[in-house]
Amino acid sequence: MPEQPAGAATTAPIIGAPVTGPNQLTIAGFDEARGLRTGARAIVILPHIASGRGGHPGRDSAAQRSPDAKLAEAVGLTRAIALNVVHAEVVRLRSVSVSHLLGSGQIDRLAGLVAALGVEVVIVDGAVTPVQQRNLEKALKAKLIDRTGLILEIFGERASTAEGTLQVELAHLHYQSSRLVRSWTHLERQRGGFGFLGGPGESQIETDRRLIRDRIARLKKELEEVRRTRGLHRRNRQKAPWPVVALVGYTNAGKSTLFNRLTGAEVRAEDLLFATLDPTMRAIRLPGHDKVVLSDTVGFVSDLPTQLVAAFRATLEEVLEADLIIHVRDISHPDSEAQAQDVLDVLADLGLAPGGRETPMLTLFNKMDALPTEQAELVRARAGDDAIPVSALTGEGIAQLQAAMDTALRAGARVHRIRVPLADGRRIAWLHSHGEVVDSSSDEACMILDVRLSDKDKARFDTLI
Ligand code: GTP
Repeated sequence: MPEQPAGAATTAPIIGAPVTGPNQLTIAGFDEARGLRTGARAIVILPHIASGRGGHPGRDSAAQRSPDAKLAEAVGLTRAIALNVVHAEVVRLRSVSVSHLLGSGQIDRLAGLVAALGVEVVIVDGAVTPVQQRNLEKALKAKLIDRTGLILEIFGERASTAEGTLQVELAHLHYQSSRLVRSWTHLERQRGGFGFLGGPGESQIETDRRLIRDRIARLKKELEEVRRTRGLHRRNRQKAPWPVVALVGYTNAGKSTLFNRLTGAEVRAEDLLFATLDPTMRAIRLPGHDKVVLSDTVGFVSDLPTQLVAAFRATLEEVLEADLIIHVRDISHPDSEAQAQDVLDVLADLGLAPGGRETPMLTLFNKMDALPTEQAELVRARAGDDAIPVSALTGEGIAQLQAAMDTALRAGARVHRIRVPLADGRRIAWLHSHGEVVDSSSDEACMILDVRLSDKDKARFDTLI
């Protein structure tokens, strides 16, 4: 009898269940995949093919990551959905088994572990086909979740805006429907010529597929609606005459901690990956500026499955409109370089190649305090003018960061000659607080100000009523 995991009462919340209300589906495998109890015992395995990248396809930079670091990330992600990781290992493969992913010897050994440790969930950090999943679940006598499923669970749990939730559910449905389609084809092939007549299994799958299709169509409509109203909100916010600074970075890099340090506010900073899925925004005072809106965004992960890109993108939309992007890097992480490359790749996909657009970007080497002194010196030397060494935890480098933010927000500014009616004190004050007034004069009706303003500030000024 497996030991009952601590705190796992029968009423424990189900993890990652954004689908509620009348739209709830009862598709086999759909709810099932979410029926995970908080604290359920899990093992995490990373299939690793010694030569080449097989089994764990991803961006080039991901191929440079050590299997151990990838495994550590997967363990972090698994803990982020409140599973109790009781064992983790890199499973080295010579080749991938089409039917079972792993070799029979490894499966037997893992099945022994699952039984001995009372494991309910096996997380496989990689892609698992529906056929492999079914066979492995049978052999291991445990629920199996692959990397896409795992990240979907996290997105599902953390999404808090309407659009984030809808995008995640859409991704989940696409994930499920592709599995249905593929397993259906597989069954059909097995049944040979009888497949067309449609046994009960087939009609069930047909029904499931139709339900999913309907739900997807409905979700897409809802998404359009949400986007439209959010567009309105955003236009309102853009009228708020403050520049927006977006924090981006790899998961666990320290964005929330930095956000808290800069805002002095208690947002969530947990040693959990993905403490923030949807952007958190807050106005802060920056020396030299009236106010700046700081926006915290969801963390990046390596090898984000393609089906999840849209959901992730939805959470990053604020970044597209930022006046300044701050890229927070955990410089103490062994894979810091590969992580940074991932972030830059995704930003490039969003149309934000560094230097390729006018949005300036600052790079932070965070967690300097976590480096041994000698290494810290080397990193400081390497940072040069390209990056700012900081510690969100101790406050090191934060003053330099604020100064750099100020400079970057003013960069690209040009002098504009602006006439403002004398009576319009508000706009005159606005120009003084947002730009550098290099010259001023007046006639009977107007103040004539020569003001250095960034293009975005000029656009904001033009929208002031
Ligand atoms: P996600 O929400 O997953 O994207 O993470 P995040 O980038 O917001 O990271 P978060 O601020 O939650 O920090 C992750 C962990 O790193 C926490 O345990 C922090 O205490 C720790 N941390 C953040 N900044 C520093 C730092 O400067 N030094 C050290 N030593 N730890 C830090």
